[in-house]
Amino acid sequence: MPAIVLVGAQWGDEGKGKATDLLGSVVDYVVKYNGGNNAGHTIVVGDQTYALHLLPSGILTPGVVPVIGNGVVIDPAVLFTEIDALEKRGIDTSRLVVSANAHLIAPYHRTIDKVAERFLGGARLGTTGRGIGPTYADKMSRVGVRVQDLFDEKILRQKIEGALELKNHLLVKVYNRRAITVDEVAEEFLAYAERLRPMTADTGLLLGRALDEGKTVLLEGGQATLLDVDHGTYPFVTSSNPTAGGACTGSGIPPTRIERVIAVVKAYTTRVGSGPFPTELTDADGVKLRTDGAEFGTTTGRPRRCGWYDAVVARFAARVNGVTDFVLTKLDVLTGWERIPVCVAYDVDGVRHDEMPMTQTDFHHARPVYELFEGWDEDISDARTLDDLPKNAQQYIKALEEMSGAPISAVGVGPGRDETVQLRSLV
Ligand code: GDP
Ligand code: IMO
Ligand code: MG
Repeated sequence: MPAIVLVGAQWGDEGKGKATDLLGSVVDYVVKYNGGNNAGHTIVVGDQTYALHLLPSGILTPGVVPVIGNGVVIDPAVLFTEIDALEKRGIDTSRLVVSANAHLIAPYHRTIDKVAERFLGGARLGTTGRGIGPTYADKMSRVGVRVQDLFDEKILRQKIEGALELKNHLLVKVYNRRAITVDEVAEEFLAYAERLRPMTADTGLLLGRALDEGKTVLLEGGQATLLDVDHGTYPFVTSSNPTAGGACTGSGIPPTRIERVIAVVKAYTTRVGSGPFPTELTDADGVKLRTDGAEFGTTTGRPRRCGWYDAVVARFAARVNGVTDFVLTKLDVLTGWERIPVCVAYDVDGVRHDEMPMTQTDFHHARPVYELFEGWDEDISDARTLDDLPKNAQQYIKALEEMSGAPISAVGVGPGRDETVQLRSLV
């Protein structure tokens, strides 16, 4: 079997964790390829609820090998806190493999993330404050510290020294904070070295061999298409590439081995943090969506901004990621609306746009052009086939499929593993 990529189609929190978990029984490896503990995936298995941040969602499935790829940024304290919490609940985490090339989040990255946001004032991005952006910035500036550096103390100290040289000037002279010493960072990192060593591997090689042996590899994206640093609503994005292209660079698996790209898309839209959001509802309807969908961040607890489904965004995600299947989630949350608006195009200063505008200035001015669909009142959480769904729900799915650029192969009708209407096989 080839590699499969799973991405978020909107601004995150589409239900990627549940979708990955759903595929857990038919895949051999689940690889997280981007981001870090800015992600938050809530997964419900029976009467147990798990909140994962850094670990791949495949960790919950016995037999699956969870892999943290080279494209991920790792906060080692968070890694072991998550591992320990799962072990305490009886989840075996011993299969976890971590790339030797993944970059480490240092205490100074978290500090800079937070103070930089404060300095931006009204222009702040609303980051998760986990040090994600500054760690990727160091990676690109070639002053990052990687997992493999933990196994050579001399090199580790050199790398930290190199990273701190400029940063301490910045921290002391610009941000008015105290300087950070090489010793304190080295000490913190070295405390994790021995625990990390046995789980560290050349994950590109491992995955290449697994594919050669006919194993199935699922590449799980954190964040989502519109948060991609290249393709998203820059600068209101994260600092990695959650889109399907990022799955290759973030795992070492070449594009020729990827045969399927599954995009998870919510039946409406949410966004956490700052940035443009054409279908956002700032009125009572937005509050109702947030309440009905329990739209509060898994990572920061922040209320998520809510709005209607945006087919322009979905079409964009279909094109950028080469989507072969959509998994439509949280359809049950829309139960009880008389009419459901769907954004089919934008009006930008009097001009209709059927595709994402070229510039962010235009995107900030985009007003949704809505088409209205008839709602339904029936509880749909027990539906398992298309025929179990009310006619209007079926029509909503069909309409979204026609305007979103790829088939909808599964529909979520509740948070539980089994609360899914399967329309086509996903592997
Ligand atoms: P992720 O970051 O993309 O994995 O998504 P989050 O876990 O942050 O947010 C999705 C939330 O919706 C989680 O609380 C899931 O348990 C829940 N969820 C996923 N699919 C469905 C669904 O089809 N219906 C309902 N009601 N909840 C869902
Ligand atoms: P999952 O994987 C939703 C948002 C933050 C902020 C911006 C940059 O659960 O879908 P960062 O800390 O990454 O530098 O913040 O990106 N953001 C997310 N929003 N879901 C996520 O992850 C997110 N990860 C980052 O809110 O606007
Ligand atoms: Mg999330």
